[in-house]
Amino acid sequence: MTAMTTPPTGFSEQDSAAVVVESLRATPDDRLRALLTSLVEHLHAFVKDVEPTHGEWEQAVGFLTEVGKTCDDTRQEFVLLSDVLGVSMLVDAINNRRSSRATDTTVLGPFHMVESPRRALGDTISLDGNGEPCVLAGRVRSADGTPLPGASVDVWQANGAGFYDVQQPDLQPERNLRGLFTTDDHGCYRLRTVVPRYYPIPDDGPVGRLLAATARHPNRPAHIHVIAEAEGHASLTTHVFVEGSPYLESDTVFGVKESLIRPVTVVDDPIRAAYHGVENPFRLLEFDIVLDPLAGAGR
Ligand code: BEZ
Ligand code: FE
Repeated sequence: MTAMTTPPTGFSEQDSAAVVVESLRATPDDRLRALLTSLVEHLHAFVKDVEPTHGEWEQAVGFLTEVGKTCDDTRQEFVLLSDVLGVSMLVDAINNRRSSRATDTTVLGPFHMVESPRRALGDTISLDGNGEPCVLAGRVRSADGTPLPGASVDVWQANGAGFYDVQQPDLQPERNLRGLFTTDDHGCYRLRTVVPRYYPIPDDGPVGRLLAATARHPNRPAHIHVIAEAEGHASLTTHVFVEGSPYLESDTVFGVKESLIRPVTVVDDPIRAAYHGVENPFRLLEFDIVLDPLAGAGR
């Protein structure tokens, strides 16, 4: 007869995690019980590893309290904390194990907090004309190379000073540098914008102090955010990064992937300039996108 092991009931340093895990046994939702059990086990292991003083624990609680207090309708300090600790990119990697042909994903970031306005192909998203004009264009395809007409391409970016419209409601027009486009019959999209610039993530709060305390800079390399979606395909959240931008090697949120870096070229071609409705010569950032079909989606 095998001996039954009874779970410990009295709290002790040695049995701390097991005692708390036992208290979760009746959680009706299996997934919630699994998540909390793992959280308790890892958290207790962490505390046993670092053996915080009461003062350090109070400081940690105070820090998280401040992170919460820094959140409002236009600022999400918890997302920022997850970003600078690499957790956002890890969650992204776990949830985007896709085919090697699909465009790589990267972090959503905290500034996709308003809906992008629908715009026609070729429209500008730069409502204040502030920055070096640039055309962003590309084609959306399925993993087998088939172009995807009617795909949506949602783009947003910071202005030439490194701020999103929601960060400067008194200085920038509403929905500046945001647009939702639909690809044409050939799966192509094109829009006018300004060359993005590198910028610091908001660093005047607790996350900024964490970066300073760890001798890290707060900067992200120049990029434009993209969410691409097409019927029967997995949605893709990514960026196109500008080749040569500072901080490509040390993005503070670990979001850079080599495959997402593109050059801004200067094109001297009056016919193409006229097609895009810009002066010749013009700057061009080309970014083709490949989406994975959803498993079981008949195409
Ligand atoms: C962004 O690229 O918008 C962003 C991403 C993570 C943290 C802060 C900003
Ligand atoms: Fe950004």
